[in-house]
Amino acid sequence: MNTIENILSHRSCREFTERPVDKEVLDTILRCAANGSSMGGMQLFSIVVTQDKDMMRKMAPLHFNQPIATNAPLILTFCADFYRFDRYCECREVPTDAYQNLQAYHWAMTDALIAAQNACVAAEDQGLGLCWLGTIIYNAPQFIEILQLPKHVVPVACIAMGYPATEVALTPKLPVNALVHHESYSEYTDSDIDKMYRYLEEAPHNASAVRENGTGNLARDYVERRYRKADNEYFSDLLLKCIKEQGFDI
Ligand SMILES: Cc1cc2nc3c(=O)[nH]c(=O)nc-3n(C[C@H](O)[C@H](O)[C@H](O)COP(=O)(O)O)c2cc1C
Repeated sequence: MNTIENILSHRSCREFTERPVDKEVLDTILRCAANGSSMGGMQLFSIVVTQDKDMMRKMAPLHFNQPIATNAPLILTFCADFYRFDRYCECREVPTDAYQNLQAYHWAMTDALIAAQNACVAAEDQGLGLCWLGTIIYNAPQFIEILQLPKHVVPVACIAMGYPATEVALTPKLPVNALVHHESYSEYTDSDIDKMYRYLEEAPHNASAVRENGTGNLARDYVERRYRKADNEYFSDLLLKCIKEQGFDI
């Protein structure tokens, strides 16, 4: 498959064989991650590679014990990182206080996410399956401690990777035209919204979740079951505190 076909066949993989990821495959993933665009060429990110099972077991509860957090042979954690650039400034006797703000955090987070998606494309291109672990954000302070991240480094993405143990079906998505606006943003009519989301509502895994949870429709299932206001507010407070404690004055 070529790269476009690979991107279009992406689906999250949550079951892996025990085969470790070959060293050359990992090296290629890391080189692709490192070669993305970055703000001003500063490459404001770091990648922590986890292959040690004891380390994975230590982090598992923070990933809410999702099986992929221990079953995958490889976990990559992408961090927004101004620490290395601070060190560079220190070594050149240049002040480091220009980058302790929201602007700087946003640059570093963007660089880290670009690197993460490049890593995903490279991984899938080489036959690996993968799944993002959003739990890295929920428990960022504890990950900072376990991974010994210094000040000015914040984990922003975490991806479990390995050789797929099973064939997985494509996940239903909104049609492309639902996401694209030409020249300026065009309003959605209620009927547009009905049409766009019907496909997702009818997807078997969503329809059965709505049925089992008794939530009535997919929107309510998201808001009242999957990602609830109280949880989002609780974890937002923790995240804001964590980013500030890491030295970004946001
Ligand atoms: C930021 C982010 C966090 C995610 N966190 C999790 C997670 O913690 N557990 C999980 O099983 N899937 C997780 N996913 C995978 C999504 O559920 C998945 O990408 C989405 O349902 C679309 O399916 P696809 O990847 O198969 O196309 C995450 C994806 C993203 C982008």
